[in-house]
Amino acid sequence: MSPFREMCFTPAEFAAIAKIDKSLVPTLESAGVLKTVKRRMGNVERKMITLEEMRNYFQIMRQRAEDQAREMANGDGAVAAGPAIPVGSSPEKIALATGFIPEDPTHKIQMFYNVKGGTGKSTLTAQYVMRAAMNGLKVLAVDLDGQGHLTVNLDVLDAHERPTVYDVLINDLPLKDAIMNVAPGLDLVPANLGLCNIEIPLNQKTRREYRLKEALAKVASQYDLIVADTNPAASILNGSMLVASDLVNVVCATNPLSFHGMSLVMATIEEMEREFSRQLDVRIIPNLYDSREVISQEVLGELRAQFEGICTKAVINRTADLNEATKRRSTVWDVNPKGIAAQDMSALTEELLYTPVMVDVAQA
Ligand SMILES: Nc1ncnc2c1ncn2[C@@H]1O[C@H](COP(=O)(O)OP(=O)(O)OP(=O)(O)O)[C@@H](O)[C@H]1O
Ligand SMILES: [Mg+2]
Repeated sequence: MSPFREMCFTPAEFAAIAKIDKSLVPTLESAGVLKTVKRRMGNVERKMITLEEMRNYFQIMRQRAEDQAREMANGDGAVAAGPAIPVGSSPEKIALATGFIPEDPTHKIQMFYNVKGGTGKSTLTAQYVMRAAMNGLKVLAVDLDGQGHLTVNLDVLDAHERPTVYDVLINDLPLKDAIMNVAPGLDLVPANLGLCNIEIPLNQKTRREYRLKEALAKVASQYDLIVADTNPAASILNGSMLVASDLVNVVCATNPLSFHGMSLVMATIEEMEREFSRQLDVRIIPNLYDSREVISQEVLGELRAQFEGICTKAVINRTADLNEATKRRSTVWDVNPKGIAAQDMSALTEELLYTPVMVDVAQA
């Protein structure tokens, strides 16, 4: 059991995340692309890859893929047709050609949203930002809920002493002064109970809905991905994040009341789109799915039928691992790297990072 920032991965776990054959690990190591450390597990010393070294690997590979693409483009003045990276015999080339190489996400600023409480917003936000940081991305998580659940999920327990978005939007604190590092590649703007009092003073501010967007714009160049967890209400603070976001991830529990509440959520988003002349990309994430329950299957079917093109392919099952990860304030990989929750979160992360949204919310 270890906090996320101290996590280590076995070569097999690393290979699964990097989508390469495990047999490539020793050669990548001798080529200097990947560093391992020795960790004592019980009576045996095992070769492990720290979170920091896993991120380094992805950053090296990302740089090499970009260099190769540039070289190919310069070679004949245009990007060559076919695969950008030639398949060669060296392990590095095989990893480049077949493995996972992080790119810039399709949507840089994202939020998890639902006016209904308890659908799993904070849990999925926390798991998503940790998973994206594992992929080598530089991530900023923003907690916009006075309950501070994202903050706690990321193992920050002294948030009552720290500045929050309240200080940024009401007292003009530069956002960079409210940012703290929580793990390699993962920063956080924490929240505490004081944030629950933001609505009245924020309502009195000029350009109130634009203040968060402007604050985020000042730090955005330092990050590959910015993700906010929001409070379960149609609040001005959530409205500010809707104005700032490129993608809204609506977390819907696969139960009838959550499905019923979706029309209200979509109406809120459409209203924001009209008021601020914006077109938002929206995704609906089915959560707390239980394949043994007929009602869960029915709600999933209805979500997919009614929100075709918006509903994610990835479905997050109800699992004890996600609850346990919340309790440990760590990632599901710490609980069970081969479990369903880890697989679900990998699939969801890939989809939220790299799949364009096909349908406009107004048409759904
Ligand atoms: N897929 C899942 N499997 C098991 N437990 C889950 C799952 N998703 C969420 N939970 C649990 O459900 C509870 C509510 O989740 P969470 O706090 O993330 O919801 P929320 O939408 O952020 O709530 P709020 O609206 O109050 O902010 C938590 O105890 C969490 O551990
Ligand atoms: Mg929450």
